[in-house]
Amino acid sequence: MPLLAIIYFSISGTTETLAHAVARGAAGMAEIALCRITGDDIVSGRFRNDGLLETIDRASAVAFGSPTYMGGPAAQFKAFADASSERWSEQRWANKIAGGFTTGACAAGDQLHTLTYFSILAAQHGMLWCGLDIPGGEDPAGRNRLGSQLGLATHPVGGALPQSDVSTAEYLGGRLAGLAARSNLTPSS
Ligand SMILES: Cc1cc2nc3c(=O)[nH]c(=O)nc-3n(C[C@H](O)[C@H](O)[C@H](O)COP(=O)(O)O)c2cc1C
Repeated sequence: MPLLAIIYFSISGTTETLAHAVARGAAGMAEIALCRITGDDIVSGRFRNDGLLETIDRASAVAFGSPTYMGGPAAQFKAFADASSERWSEQRWANKIAGGFTTGACAAGDQLHTLTYFSILAAQHGMLWCGLDIPGGEDPAGRNRLGSQLGLATHPVGGALPQSDVSTAEYLGGRLAGLAARSNLTPSS
């Protein structure tokens, strides 16, 4: 079974709820590694969790998750991304499938910029980006509620994530795992 690494940062739990939903959606199709970036991973401004980077080395697919902070990924996620530069120079993560999810306080809180950043990070690594193939506003179950096809964008309504957003996260997990299983590309290490 391919390994799906879900790499995310979350403080108040919304992104974590999405990360667990991505994992549920991939269950049975992939092994799952849920990797939460914490403040303790960052020492003197540098991301130092080598184990997390090694988990991605072994993965066939990766889901990036972060709340949108000031119109982009949280600094803690960016610290992780910056620490991947050694892998970038060797293109060690090339050909892995990658997708992303984010949340914000507002419906149009610049979540797209966070997803755009994730996709550029994936491109830098030579990964293959996987968006959502659910047309916004057309799905009977209301998935992809905000109409974001680059990846999952959400925001809580009345203090909680709508079920449609959680279902979209599950769908994204299944899509990532399915693509990884269909791919005959093996992790480089
Ligand atoms: C420093 C900071 C900056 C934020 N910037 C944005 C933003 O640009 N757009 C937005 O919609 N929400 C913004 N928010 C709200 C968070 O994205 C939102 O609270 C999110 O649910 C937090 O994710 P978490 O529950 O996984 O920690 C910001 C919150 C903080 C603390």
